[in-house]
Amino acid sequence: MKKLQNLDIRQKENILIITINRPEKRNALDLATLKEIKHVMQDVYANPTVRGIIITGAGDKAFIAGADISEFMEMNEVNSRKFAENGQEIFALLENSPKPVIAAVNGFALGGGCELAMACHLRIAVETAKFGQPEVNLGIIPGYGGTQRMTQLVGKSKAMEWMMTGDMISAQEAHQYGLVNHLVSTPEELLSKAEELLNKILSKAPVAIEMVIECVNAVFNKDENGYQTEANAFSICCKTEDFKEGTKAFLEKRPANFQGR
Ligand code: COA
Repeated sequence: MKKLQNLDIRQKENILIITINRPEKRNALDLATLKEIKHVMQDVYANPTVRGIIITGAGDKAFIAGADISEFMEMNEVNSRKFAENGQEIFALLENSPKPVIAAVNGFALGGGCELAMACHLRIAVETAKFGQPEVNLGIIPGYGGTQRMTQLVGKSKAMEWMMTGDMISAQEAHQYGLVNHLVSTPEELLSKAEELLNKILSKAPVAIEMVIECVNAVFNKDENGYQTEANAFSICCKTEDFKEGTKAFLEKRPANFQGR
Protein backbone atom coordinates (compact mmCIF):
# COMPACT_ATOMS: atom_id res chain seq x y z
CA MET A 1 0.00 0.00 0.00
CA LYS A 2 1.17 3.57 -0.80
CA LYS A 3 2.26 5.73 2.13
CA LEU A 4 -0.75 7.33 3.79
CA GLN A 5 -0.84 11.06 4.59
CA ASN A 6 -4.13 11.43 6.45
CA LEU A 7 -4.75 8.06 8.02
CA ASP A 8 -2.93 6.34 10.80
CA ILE A 9 -3.20 2.58 10.46
CA ARG A 10 -2.42 0.12 13.20
CA GLN A 11 -3.05 -3.61 13.19
CA LYS A 12 -3.67 -5.23 16.57
CA GLU A 13 -3.80 -8.97 16.01
CA ASN A 14 -6.60 -9.38 13.47
CA ILE A 15 -8.20 -5.95 14.04
CA LEU A 16 -7.24 -2.98 11.87
CA ILE A 17 -7.59 0.37 13.65
CA ILE A 18 -7.95 3.23 11.18
CA THR A 19 -7.52 6.71 12.67
CA ILE A 20 -8.48 9.71 10.56
CA ASN A 21 -5.51 11.91 11.26
CA ARG A 22 -6.11 15.60 10.49
CA PRO A 23 -6.85 16.83 14.01
CA GLU A 24 -5.97 20.45 13.12
CA LYS A 25 -8.90 20.33 10.65
CA ARG A 26 -11.08 18.34 13.05
CA ASN A 27 -10.41 15.31 10.81
CA ALA A 28 -12.48 16.80 7.98
CA LEU A 29 -12.71 14.42 5.05
CA ASP A 30 -10.99 16.00 2.08
CA LEU A 31 -10.84 14.11 -1.20
CA ALA A 32 -7.32 12.85 -0.48
CA THR A 33 -8.48 11.31 2.83
CA LEU A 34 -11.47 9.71 1.13
CA LYS A 35 -9.15 8.18 -1.46
CA GLU A 36 -6.96 6.76 1.27
CA ILE A 37 -10.01 5.22 2.99
CA LYS A 38 -10.90 3.63 -0.34
CA HIS A 39 -7.44 2.10 -0.75
CA VAL A 40 -7.31 0.85 2.83
CA MET A 41 -10.76 -0.74 2.55
CA GLN A 42 -9.85 -2.40 -0.75
CA ASP A 43 -6.79 -3.82 0.98
CA VAL A 44 -8.93 -4.95 3.95
CA TYR A 45 -11.22 -6.90 1.63
CA ALA A 46 -8.21 -8.77 0.20
CA ASN A 47 -6.14 -9.16 3.36
CA PRO A 48 -6.88 -12.40 5.27
CA THR A 49 -4.94 -11.20 8.33
CA VAL A 50 -7.53 -8.45 8.92
CA ARG A 51 -10.85 -9.76 10.27
CA GLY A 52 -12.41 -6.63 11.75
CA ILE A 53 -12.04 -2.86 11.51
CA ILE A 54 -12.37 0.04 13.95
CA ILE A 55 -12.50 3.60 12.64
CA THR A 56 -11.83 6.55 14.93
CA GLY A 57 -10.57 10.14 14.83
CA ALA A 58 -7.28 11.64 16.01
CA GLY A 59 -7.24 14.13 18.88
CA ASP A 60 -9.77 14.81 21.60
CA LYS A 61 -12.22 17.02 19.69
CA ALA A 62 -13.53 15.33 16.59
CA PHE A 63 -14.30 11.98 15.08
CA ILE A 64 -14.80 13.65 11.69
CA ALA A 65 -16.24 17.20 11.39
CA GLY A 66 -17.64 16.54 7.93
CA ALA A 67 -16.49 16.79 4.36
CA ASP A 68 -13.76 19.40 3.93
CA ILE A 69 -15.73 22.60 3.37
CA SER A 70 -12.69 24.33 1.83
CA GLU A 71 -13.09 22.03 -1.20
CA PHE A 72 -16.72 23.13 -1.69
CA MET A 73 -15.76 26.37 -3.47
CA GLU A 74 -14.99 24.42 -6.66
CA MET A 75 -18.33 22.65 -6.63
CA ASN A 76 -21.00 23.23 -9.25
CA GLU A 77 -24.13 21.52 -10.52
CA VAL A 78 -22.11 19.11 -12.69
CA ASN A 79 -19.13 18.04 -10.58
CA SER A 80 -21.19 17.89 -7.36
CA ARG A 81 -22.99 14.78 -8.58
CA LYS A 82 -19.62 13.04 -9.06
CA PHE A 83 -18.54 14.34 -5.64
CA ALA A 84 -21.57 12.68 -4.00
CA GLU A 85 -21.26 9.48 -6.02
CA ASN A 86 -17.57 9.17 -5.18
CA GLY A 87 -18.28 9.45 -1.44
CA GLN A 88 -21.23 7.08 -1.70
CA GLU A 89 -19.10 4.49 -3.49
CA ILE A 90 -16.39 4.67 -0.82
CA PHE A 91 -18.87 4.49 2.07
CA ALA A 92 -20.48 1.48 0.40
CA LEU A 93 -17.12 -0.28 0.85
CA LEU A 94 -17.64 0.14 4.60
CA GLU A 95 -21.29 -0.88 4.59
CA ASN A 96 -20.74 -3.94 2.41
CA SER A 97 -17.48 -5.00 4.00
CA PRO A 98 -17.61 -8.75 4.66
CA LYS A 99 -15.62 -8.00 7.82
CA PRO A 100 -17.34 -6.11 10.64
CA VAL A 101 -16.61 -2.38 10.85
CA ILE A 102 -17.16 -0.38 14.07
CA ALA A 103 -17.06 3.41 14.32
CA ALA A 104 -15.51 4.54 17.62
CA VAL A 105 -16.84 8.09 17.83
CA ASN A 106 -14.58 10.21 20.02
CA GLY A 107 -16.02 13.69 19.37
CA PHE A 108 -17.85 15.65 16.65
CA ALA A 109 -19.35 13.36 13.99
CA LEU A 110 -20.90 15.94 11.71
CA GLY A 111 -21.95 15.89 8.08
CA GLY A 112 -19.76 13.36 6.26
CA GLY A 113 -18.48 12.22 9.66
CA CYS A 114 -21.95 11.24 10.81
CA GLU A 115 -22.48 9.66 7.39
CA LEU A 116 -19.28 7.65 7.67
CA ALA A 117 -20.25 6.45 11.16
CA MET A 118 -23.67 5.42 9.81
CA ALA A 119 -22.04 3.45 6.97
CA CYS A 120 -20.22 1.33 9.57
CA HIS A 121 -21.97 -1.76 10.94
CA LEU A 122 -21.95 -0.58 14.58
CA ARG A 123 -21.24 2.66 16.46
CA ILE A 124 -19.78 3.22 19.91
CA ALA A 125 -19.48 6.78 21.19
CA VAL A 126 -18.06 8.64 24.12
CA GLU A 127 -20.80 10.44 26.10
CA THR A 128 -19.45 13.85 25.05
CA ALA A 129 -19.61 13.07 21.31
CA LYS A 130 -21.94 15.07 19.11
CA PHE A 131 -23.61 13.90 15.95
CA GLY A 132 -25.45 15.85 13.29
CA GLN A 133 -26.15 16.55 9.64
CA PRO A 134 -25.72 20.35 9.52
CA GLU A 135 -25.58 20.55 5.70
CA VAL A 136 -28.76 22.64 5.48
CA ASN A 137 -26.81 25.43 7.19
CA LEU A 138 -24.63 25.50 4.07
CA GLY A 139 -27.51 25.27 1.64
CA ILE A 140 -26.92 21.62 0.79
CA ILE A 141 -28.00 18.18 2.01
CA PRO A 142 -26.04 15.10 3.07
CA GLY A 143 -24.52 13.60 -0.09
CA TYR A 144 -22.60 10.56 1.14
CA GLY A 145 -25.68 8.42 1.81
CA GLY A 146 -26.83 10.23 4.96
CA THR A 147 -30.42 10.85 3.90
CA GLN A 148 -30.82 7.13 3.30
CA ARG A 149 -28.86 5.66 6.19
CA MET A 150 -30.11 8.03 8.87
CA THR A 151 -33.68 7.18 7.90
CA GLN A 152 -32.84 3.47 7.96
CA LEU A 153 -31.24 3.74 11.40
CA VAL A 154 -33.59 6.06 13.32
CA GLY A 155 -36.79 6.15 11.28
CA LYS A 156 -38.37 8.79 9.07
CA SER A 157 -39.67 11.11 11.77
CA LYS A 158 -36.42 11.78 13.64
CA ALA A 159 -34.36 11.67 10.44
CA MET A 160 -36.55 14.39 8.93
CA GLU A 161 -36.21 16.53 12.03
CA TRP A 162 -32.46 16.09 12.42
CA MET A 163 -31.70 16.72 8.75
CA MET A 164 -34.12 19.66 8.35
CA THR A 165 -32.98 21.46 11.51
CA GLY A 166 -29.27 20.58 11.16
CA ASP A 167 -29.26 20.39 14.96
CA MET A 168 -26.41 18.81 16.83
CA ILE A 169 -27.47 15.53 18.41
CA SER A 170 -26.08 14.61 21.82
CA ALA A 171 -24.57 11.17 22.21
CA GLN A 172 -27.36 10.33 24.67
CA GLU A 173 -30.06 11.23 22.14
CA ALA A 174 -28.22 9.37 19.40
CA HIS A 175 -28.15 6.35 21.68
CA GLN A 176 -31.82 6.72 22.59
CA TYR A 177 -32.83 6.67 18.90
CA GLY A 178 -30.56 3.77 17.94
CA LEU A 179 -28.02 5.80 16.01
CA VAL A 180 -25.40 4.61 18.50
CA ASN A 181 -25.14 1.07 19.86
CA HIS A 182 -23.20 1.79 23.04
CA LEU A 183 -21.95 4.78 25.02
CA VAL A 184 -18.80 4.93 27.12
CA SER A 185 -18.05 7.52 29.82
CA THR A 186 -14.48 8.41 28.91
CA PRO A 187 -12.39 8.59 25.70
CA GLU A 188 -9.97 6.09 27.28
CA GLU A 189 -12.71 3.44 27.33
CA LEU A 190 -13.71 3.95 23.72
CA LEU A 191 -11.22 1.75 21.89
CA SER A 192 -11.25 -0.97 24.53
CA LYS A 193 -15.06 -1.16 24.33
CA ALA A 194 -14.89 -1.26 20.52
CA GLU A 195 -12.25 -3.99 20.66
CA GLU A 196 -14.24 -5.96 23.23
CA LEU A 197 -17.35 -5.90 21.04
CA LEU A 198 -15.39 -6.68 17.88
CA ASN A 199 -13.52 -9.55 19.55
CA LYS A 200 -16.82 -11.04 20.66
CA ILE A 201 -18.04 -10.90 17.03
CA LEU A 202 -14.73 -12.29 15.77
CA SER A 203 -15.07 -15.29 18.10
CA LYS A 204 -18.10 -16.41 16.03
CA ALA A 205 -17.97 -18.18 12.68
CA PRO A 206 -16.63 -15.64 10.13
CA VAL A 207 -18.79 -16.86 7.26
CA ALA A 208 -21.89 -16.53 9.45
CA ILE A 209 -20.90 -12.96 10.36
CA GLU A 210 -20.37 -12.12 6.68
CA MET A 211 -23.79 -13.56 5.88
CA VAL A 212 -25.49 -11.54 8.65
CA ILE A 213 -24.03 -8.35 7.16
CA GLU A 214 -25.13 -9.32 3.65
CA CYS A 215 -28.68 -10.26 4.71
CA VAL A 216 -29.27 -7.19 6.90
CA ASN A 217 -28.01 -4.94 4.11
CA ALA A 218 -30.36 -6.74 1.71
CA VAL A 219 -33.34 -5.28 3.61
CA PHE A 220 -32.44 -1.88 2.18
CA ASN A 221 -31.80 -2.98 -1.40
CA LYS A 222 -35.04 -2.55 -3.33
CA ASP A 223 -33.78 -4.83 -6.12
CA GLU A 224 -33.12 -7.73 -3.80
CA ASN A 225 -35.47 -10.25 -2.23
CA GLY A 226 -34.04 -10.38 1.29
CA TYR A 227 -35.74 -13.68 2.12
CA GLN A 228 -34.07 -15.30 -0.87
CA THR A 229 -30.75 -13.74 0.12
CA GLU A 230 -31.25 -15.16 3.61
CA ALA A 231 -32.08 -18.67 2.36
CA ASN A 232 -29.01 -18.62 0.09
CA ALA A 233 -26.83 -17.32 2.92
CA PHE A 234 -28.21 -19.96 5.28
CA SER A 235 -27.25 -22.67 2.82
CA ILE A 236 -23.76 -21.14 2.37
CA CYS A 237 -23.29 -21.33 6.15
CA CYS A 238 -24.41 -24.96 6.18
CA LYS A 239 -21.68 -25.87 3.67
CA THR A 240 -18.92 -24.67 6.02
CA GLU A 241 -16.62 -26.67 8.28
CA ASP A 242 -17.46 -24.08 10.94
CA PHE A 243 -21.11 -25.13 10.93
CA LYS A 244 -20.04 -28.74 11.59
CA GLU A 245 -17.62 -27.55 14.28
CA GLY A 246 -20.21 -25.25 15.91
CA THR A 247 -22.88 -27.91 16.22
CA LYS A 248 -20.37 -30.60 17.28
CA ALA A 249 -18.92 -28.28 19.94
CA PHE A 250 -22.41 -27.60 21.31
CA LEU A 251 -23.17 -31.31 21.60
CA GLU A 252 -19.76 -31.97 23.17
CA LYS A 253 -20.34 -29.07 25.62
CA ARG A 254 -17.14 -27.19 24.66
CA PRO A 255 -16.37 -23.86 22.99
CA ALA A 256 -16.28 -23.99 19.20
CA ASN A 257 -12.98 -23.48 17.42
CA PHE A 258 -13.95 -21.72 14.20
CA GLN A 259 -11.56 -21.60 11.26
CA GLY A 260 -13.45 -19.37 8.84
CA ARG A 261 -14.03 -22.19 6.37
N1 COA B 1 -14.12 21.35 6.70
C1 COA B 1 -12.98 22.06 6.65
N2 COA B 1 -12.37 22.54 7.72
C2 COA B 1 -12.93 22.31 8.91
C3 COA B 1 -14.12 21.59 9.05
C4 COA B 1 -14.72 21.10 7.87
N3 COA B 1 -15.84 20.37 7.88
N4 COA B 1 -14.45 21.53 10.36
C5 COA B 1 -13.48 22.20 11.02
N5 COA B 1 -12.57 22.68 10.14
C6 COA B 1 -11.36 23.47 10.41
C7 COA B 1 -11.70 24.91 10.74
O1 COA B 1 -11.88 25.65 9.55
C8 COA B 1 -10.46 25.29 11.50
O2 COA B 1 -9.41 25.54 10.59
P1 COA B 1 -8.36 26.77 10.82
O3 COA B 1 -7.71 26.45 12.13
O4 COA B 1 -7.46 26.68 9.65
O5 COA B 1 -9.21 28.00 10.88
C9 COA B 1 -10.10 24.04 12.27
O6 COA B 1 -10.73 22.97 11.57
C10 COA B 1 -10.62 24.04 13.70
O7 COA B 1 -12.01 24.32 13.64
P2 COA B 1 -12.76 25.17 14.75
O8 COA B 1 -14.10 25.52 14.21
O9 COA B 1 -11.88 26.28 15.21
O10 COA B 1 -12.84 24.07 15.91
P3 COA B 1 -13.86 23.98 17.12
O11 COA B 1 -13.32 22.87 17.96
O12 COA B 1 -14.07 25.31 17.75
O13 COA B 1 -15.25 23.54 16.46
C11 COA B 1 -16.66 22.17 15.01
C12 COA B 1 -15.41 22.25 15.93
C13 COA B 1 -16.64 20.77 14.43
C14 COA B 1 -17.90 22.38 15.84
C15 COA B 1 -16.56 23.26 13.92
O14 COA B 1 -15.28 23.19 13.34
C16 COA B 1 -17.57 23.07 12.81
O15 COA B 1 -18.72 23.45 12.97
N6 COA B 1 -17.15 22.50 11.65
C17 COA B 1 -17.97 22.35 10.50
C18 COA B 1 -19.01 21.27 10.69
C19 COA B 1 -19.88 21.09 9.46
O16 COA B 1 -20.64 21.96 9.09
N7 COA B 1 -19.75 19.91 8.83
C20 COA B 1 -20.55 19.56 7.71
C21 COA B 1 -19.87 19.83 6.44
S1 COA B 1 -20.89 19.42 5.11
